[in-house]
Amino acid sequence: MARTPLMAGNWKMNLNHIEAIALVQKLAYTFNTDDFSALEIAVIPPFTDIRSVQTLVDGDKIALKYGAQDLAKADKGAFTGEISGVMLAKLGCTFVIVGHSERRQFHGEDDQTVNLKVQAALRNGLTPIVCVGEGTEVRNAGDHVAFTLNQLKAALSGVAAGDVANLVVAYEPVWAIGTGEVATPANAQEVCGAIRNQIREVFGSAADQVRVLYGGSMKADNVAALMKEPDIDGGLVGGASLDPDEFVSVCRYRLHP
Ligand code: 13P
Repeated sequence: MARTPLMAGNWKMNLNHIEAIALVQKLAYTFNTDDFSALEIAVIPPFTDIRSVQTLVDGDKIALKYGAQDLAKADKGAFTGEISGVMLAKLGCTFVIVGHSERRQFHGEDDQTVNLKVQAALRNGLTPIVCVGEGTEVRNAGDHVAFTLNQLKAALSGVAAGDVANLVVAYEPVWAIGTGEVATPANAQEVCGAIRNQIREVFGSAADQVRVLYGGSMKADNVAALMKEPDIDGGLVGGASLDPDEFVSVCRYRLHP
C-alpha cells in the first residue's frame, strides 16, 4: 500500500508569532500544487504561534498542515502551564509531537507519560508523531534496535490497531539531533524497518499504513538518499525547517538528482 510521505518541520523553541507568519507566508508562495499532491507538508511551531498559523492557513486556504510540539496528559483542569489536546484540536492542529527526546531528557518524560500523551492525542482526534530513538551510549553498545523497539512498545501500549494505522512514528537517534551527524540511510532503514516489523507483529496490517519518519540533521543534501529506503516515509526536520529555502528543498527531495 502506498503511503503518502510526510515532511514535518519541528521549529522547537524558535520563532515568535510574527516570525512564524513570515515563514509560513514564504512557504505558501513557494510550494505549488505539485508539492502538496506529492506529499503532506506540516509545520510544528511553538504553542504561541499556532493561532497565527491557523489564521493564515485558513484565510489563504494553504494546503499546509500544522501541529504542536507537546500536549498534556489530561484534557483540562488544574495543570498550570499545560496545554491540552482539546485546545490543540480547537486550533485546527492535525499533528502533535509526543515523546520528543528533548521532552524525555529535559522534562523527565518517561514511557508511561508518553503512552498517556499518545492516548490524549488520539482521543482528541490529533495524529501523534511518536518519537523514539537511542542515545550515543546505546548505539555504541549495539543495543539501538532493542532500545528503540522498547520505547515504541511502551508508547503504543493499549492503542487500538486502527489508531496505530493512522499515527506517525519518528525514529530520531539522539546522537543525530542538532549535531549535523546524520544516520546513514542503511542505519536509519535498519531501525525504521524494525519499527514497522514490530508494528506488524503486534497490530497486523496497520504496519502497511503507519508512517515512519526519520529525524536527526535531515537536510536538503541528505534527504533524497534517506527517502529511497523502503521504510522511511518522511522526515521530522529540526534546524533545516527554520530556513524556508532549505525546508522547501527538503520537501522537494523527489526532484533531486
Ligand atoms: P535537527 O534536524 O535539528 O537535527 O532536529 C531533529 C529533531 O529533533 C526534529 O524533531
